[in-house]
Amino acid sequence: MKFFVDTADVDAIRELNDLGMVDGVTTNPSIIAKSGRNIEEVTREICEMVAGPVSAEVVANDAEGMITEGRHLAKIASNITIKVPLTWDGLKACKVLSGEGHKLNVTLCFSAAQAILAAKAGATFISPFIGRLDDINLDGMELIAQIREIYDNYDFKTEILAASIRSVNHITDAARIGADVITAPPAIIKAMASHVLTDKGLAQFNADWAKTGQKIV
Ligand code: E4P
Repeated sequence: MKFFVDTADVDAIRELNDLGMVDGVTTNPSIIAKSGRNIEEVTREICEMVAGPVSAEVVANDAEGMITEGRHLAKIASNITIKVPLTWDGLKACKVLSGEGHKLNVTLCFSAAQAILAAKAGATFISPFIGRLDDINLDGMELIAQIREIYDNYDFKTEILAASIRSVNHITDAARIGADVITAPPAIIKAMASHVLTDKGLAQFNADWAKTGQKIV
């Protein structure tokens, strides 16, 4: 399973990248806005730090505009993945840009039907949004399972990039289903290391060790 980090916070990306835990990065217009930085400048900085795919999202709503923006974003670095929304125009842009050899991440996917179309249009990644489905009392993880089943039935090469991850359980559940990639905020990736019994066990070891009066070095 590949780990993408869902942020434009370069310090947070660097910390995880130094541990070998970053296989790629995803951004979107909201994430860029939150960073307060210029999209090209921050995306270039991320691309220089991370070897894997870095998703940069178009903001035009029409296919022609998306294609123009996508070509422009792709010039930032060789590891750019162009991110387009799962609309009819987004699928048209995906078809054209993937045909030119670019990597495409088709985002804002909320149904298996949408995921089929993205695969047919040549998407490198499909991004089903788990958390936003859960937010409206639908089952985000069930969507991951449906897409996995369909893609396997037909040997579609598009990778399932489980997105809108809000908890550690989202990551482990997506991994069990067989999502190819997860993208999550840095805090959730770091939270994977925490367990109450680890903390409790360590406190006990520290207390017992102090009683021995020994030092290892
Ligand atoms: C994925 O590519 C998106 O940037 C992201 O996962 C959306 O997450 P959110 O629903 O928490 O905003």
